[in-house]
Amino acid sequence: FILAVVALHSYYVYGTRCSPAVRLRSTSSMQGYSELARERSKTVTSFYNQSAIDASAEKASVRLTPATLLYAGKSPDGQHILSSARYLHKELPVRIAHRIKGFRSLPFIIGCNPTILQVHELYIRAYHMLSDFPTIKDQEMESGYSKLVQQLLDDHKDVVTILAEGFRECRKHIQDETLVRNFLDTTLTSRLGIRMLATHHLSLHEDNPDFVGIICRRLSPKKIIEKWVDFARRLCEHQYGSSPRVRINGHVAARFPFIPMPLDYILPELLKNAMRATMESHLDTPYNVPDVVVTIANNETDFVIRIADRGGGIPHTILEKVMDYHFSTAEESNQDPRMSNLFNTITNSGPQSGPMHGFGFGLPTSRAYAEYLGGSLSVQSMQGIGTDVYLRLRHIDGKGESFRV
Ligand SMILES: Nc1ncnc2c1ncn2[C@@H]1O[C@H](COP(=O)(O)OP(=O)(O)OP(=O)(O)O)[C@@H](O)[C@H]1O
Ligand SMILES: [Mg+2]
Repeated sequence: FILAVVALHSYYVYGTRCSPAVRLRSTSSMQGYSELARERSKTVTSFYNQSAIDASAEKASVRLTPATLLYAGKSPDGQHILSSARYLHKELPVRIAHRIKGFRSLPFIIGCNPTILQVHELYIRAYHMLSDFPTIKDQEMESGYSKLVQQLLDDHKDVVTILAEGFRECRKHIQDETLVRNFLDTTLTSRLGIRMLATHHLSLHEDNPDFVGIICRRLSPKKIIEKWVDFARRLCEHQYGSSPRVRINGHVAARFPFIPMPLDYILPELLKNAMRATMESHLDTPYNVPDVVVTIANNETDFVIRIADRGGGIPHTILEKVMDYHFSTAEESNQDPRMSNLFNTITNSGPQSGPMHGFGFGLPTSRAYAEYLGGSLSVQSMQGIGTDVYLRLRHIDGKGESFRV
């Protein structure tokens, strides 16, 4: 039975749907090919000989509060960097093993999808590379470890796009919608956590007085909103020849310690949605469209960013579905289908990376990220007028209990 499954697996991997990883690498030389085959066979066997992965998956993950990250104490001899590397060295294999367990628990027909398998294998490969790394004793080893972490961050940057594609391919086999939601919510948020920890560690090496790792000591919500407004307006102008103006009001002077990374994922998604709705509900008057209004409310416990557009609202008939993964009205858009390409960043490693067509991931992923950080994302539609989206995030050092990364 095992042989048959391995054969089936190899068919998917080597068959017509050859994975991009395989396609990208040069197989012209025999040596390159056999190396590739060895690496492949290692990952394939890992589906079965995985006592190490099983053991790691049994361990509990240790989630840190941002305060722990912030006050981990900077020492001039770089001890804080060494202890941060040691924490990662222990923690990353555990988190990755949990994800591998998630892939293995998928229904067979989904787990066999070649695109999803590709991500599954990326995780197995990362697991081995990270857990094979020897104990970090000195700075030299730490710098080798940091290189490995950086390399894995790069290798995994397109994971969300590939997963979105994979699940779209298996839509027809899926009866249980909550299964997809749970898997994607957990996988994507856990990935965010891993990337936050990894990037935090790497940025500890940098000397920026405003930052401790990934934590900005005095983040200005207004500034970060403005950054993403510029970005979204540029995309919008490229697509529609014009874009709505954005007014920012409320607590515009607020500054507090926070992690920009989740905002860098969520804000562009919400602004793109608001701008797209505004433009598409005013196709006759593209140079005279209502403003998008962003309001900031800061308090001791949390802060709220409301993005209000006058793009006609979300119709009753689809309101229930907009938070579903893969739900999108991008296809029926009267604009160039490439628009949906432009209107997506969250699914990629970062906002600057390659385009991806309207997978309908913007809202569900943003909500999952917000909830992972102890916050929320809610949508209020005033059908016929416009939409208000409320993003609520908990302070790092606020009155309430903080979230954990
Ligand atoms: N501000 C808004 N006004 C009107 N409709 C909206 C608004 N935001 C979202 N929607 C509707 O919800 C759908 C889902 O939004 P979501 O951001 O999840 O996916 P998308 O924008 O279609 O694709 P992606 O964000 O993955 O590129 C959209 O296709 C659109 O129909
Ligand atoms: Mg969107």
